[in-house]
Amino acid sequence: MTRPGKDPRKNPQKNELAVVSGASSGIGAATARALAAMGYHVLAGVRTDSEADAVRGDGIEPVTLDITVSEHIEALARRIADDPERRVLRVLVNNAGIEINAPVEVLPLSLWREQFEVNLFGHIAVIQELLPFLRRSRGRVVNISSVGGVAALPVFGAYAGTKFALEAASDSLRREVSAHGVQVVVVQPGGVRTEMAARSGDISLGLAAEMSAEHQRLYGGLINATVSSNTAFLERAVPAAKAGATIARVATTPRPRARYTLGTDAAFIIPLARFLPARLMDGILAMSHRSRTSKPLPAPASESAGSPS
Ligand SMILES: NC(=O)c1ccc[n+]([C@@H]2O[C@H](COP(=O)([O-])OP(=O)(O)OC[C@H]3O[C@@H](n4cnc5c(N)ncnc54)[C@H](OP(=O)(O)O)[C@@H]3O)[C@@H](O)[C@H]2O)c1
Repeated sequence: MTRPGKDPRKNPQKNELAVVSGASSGIGAATARALAAMGYHVLAGVRTDSEADAVRGDGIEPVTLDITVSEHIEALARRIADDPERRVLRVLVNNAGIEINAPVEVLPLSLWREQFEVNLFGHIAVIQELLPFLRRSRGRVVNISSVGGVAALPVFGAYAGTKFALEAASDSLRREVSAHGVQVVVVQPGGVRTEMAARSGDISLGLAAEMSAEHQRLYGGLINATVSSNTAFLERAVPAAKAGATIARVATTPRPRARYTLGTDAAFIIPLARFLPARLMDGILAMSHRSRTSKPLPAPASESAGSPS
């Protein structure tokens, strides 16, 4: 695992704001808590009133933020501009995300677009709106990518596409705004124990159940292998609280690197994907999937007691 400086901010700036999108659960909720514990006033993006009640706490103020809704983003900008204590925005953590996996040929275009709307365009919209505040504070953007931002596994094409694109946009942005005093950092988690994998496994199995007989024959085994290897992946996953603490350190360490992996799996897979020839990676992935592809597709969790991951 690559680590940011171990000392977060020795003297937390209690007069500073941090924004975390997707703070209702998982990594976002944990990051909001970790930043609040450092002394930031965290504007925690959630989409429902019940999630707002659940996330509200010492130093955590829920804000309604669906990152695909421009009115929500504009309201967030007004909330920051009109801060009653005139606190500056120091940190923006672009964390919200969805994962809908199916083979490239099978995933409906509407679901390709939905993932790009959330995992890429939503973050760009938030960045565009909040950059003026970060310029004033010489603050930091932290974009939550994934191992999928470097290694595109079969069945993960759309999700990986969004994360590759976020990685590219982060590189451009970093090179554009460093002269203005704004830092841009990418975090690349491997497996983190959240609800995302179970939800996405269930969606994959639901999509698989609706596939044509031909697609079942072509891709059923691959989808099965993917869902079951995700389950195994999660067993070794980093707890969300640990991921949140790492992201909070990345958000506050004095001289950040451009990228941090999160988890030993990410630290292992990302260099492999970067440096091994693509054909060799293909072979390694095919081998790791082969042992699982002969098994029949499990039912989606909604139809069976066991969650796929
Ligand atoms: N868990 C992993 O193993 C893993 C690995 C690599 C990268 N990541 C990345 O880490 C980030 C957080 O994922 P997680 O594992 O913590 O998943 P999670 O528990 O499912 O959290 C995803 C968050 O995104 C929010 N969200 C979804 N659509 C949104 C939208 N349109 N606008 C605003 N918020 C929205 C969700 O809100 P609702 O509750 O309202 O749906 C939720 O708060 C994602 O970017 C994911 O790609 C996760």
